[in-house]
Amino acid sequence: MTRATIAGLGTAVGHRVVTNHDLAESLDTSDEWIVERTGIHERRIGGSCLELGAQAARLALNEADVDAADLDLIICATCTPDQVFPAVANRVQQELGAVCGAFDLNAACSGFTYAVTLAQSQIAAGMERVLVVGVDTLSRFTDWEDRTTAILFGDGAGAVVMTAAQNEDRGVLSTFMGSEGRFADLLVCDFGDYIRMDGKEVFRQAVRVMVAASRRVLEDAGLEASDVSVVIPHQANLRIIESAMKRLGVAQDRAATVLEVTGNTSSASIPLAMNAAREKGAISDDDIVLLVGFGAGMSVAAALLRWGQ
Ligand code: ACO
Repeated sequence: MTRATIAGLGTAVGHRVVTNHDLAESLDTSDEWIVERTGIHERRIGGSCLELGAQAARLALNEADVDAADLDLIICATCTPDQVFPAVANRVQQELGAVCGAFDLNAACSGFTYAVTLAQSQIAAGMERVLVVGVDTLSRFTDWEDRTTAILFGDGAGAVVMTAAQNEDRGVLSTFMGSEGRFADLLVCDFGDYIRMDGKEVFRQAVRVMVAASRRVLEDAGLEASDVSVVIPHQANLRIIESAMKRLGVAQDRAATVLEVTGNTSSASIPLAMNAAREKGAISDDDIVLLVGFGAGMSVAAALLRWGQ
């Protein structure tokens, strides 16, 4: 089977830095509480999904040395589109000058990993170049007077260009997409309302589904947790990541994080963390890299890759 691999990666974040200290000026909270409970120090706010998504996509295309006109498909993972319709993907397509099919996918914070899974299947079916964009602007749906949610979210985008791996051992090895609709009420954003969540229960279920999805893709690829070089988890809360890594049996220093400076950016969080890991030199060719996301739904997805072209 042809495997898809990441040929280019780009990111973008909101232009305005909002620190925990900034939030503590108007909310009954403190930098100390937020850092201890979440690991977040600051978040980036601003920009539309189109602006952030197109910016990240351009960088990814440039790195992959792919012309937008040669793309076969654009999948945009988002749960906070700029408009009900058209899809963000249609606007991004126009902005880039692409001529291919384009659609949005809403799997909340699991969206990027769902989209990578679909890109893999389309490349296995014969497509050559698929652009995956994960973008969310959660700040527009955040109640900035609610200290239980306002501390968590930020705006950002991450994009990857996926192409067929030249080396048959590299690329996507296994994928998993899951949903547990019985937990859908734990995390809800109604039309005209803000994000509402049962944080404690989301925390508990998130750890469980992340670990189960990770084990599933490892088993499908015939690999063990000890084979994983880098885990790139959804960036919701550092304590969720630490609990999941412990239960999975992977050393904490193998988890890529960026939430310290971005907060939870939903569909953008995994590519943002991937970029941060890459900039630190933490990912090398032939490394086994595990992407694992969870979010409203409750959705969950994992993808295992052997890094490199
Ligand atoms: N500052 C100070 N105190 C606070 C704050 C705050 N910002 N927020 C809550 N508190 C208080 C509470 O009122 C409570 O006070 P009480 O004991 O007097 O009642 C106390 O702190 C403890 O609150 P908890 O809710 O028990 O705190 P917890 O340790 O569970 O942390 C948190 C809360 C950070 C929200 C955590 O539960 C969490 O991260 N949950 C997961 C959230 C998540 O991952 N969401 C996914 C969104 S992804 C998507 O799909 C959009």
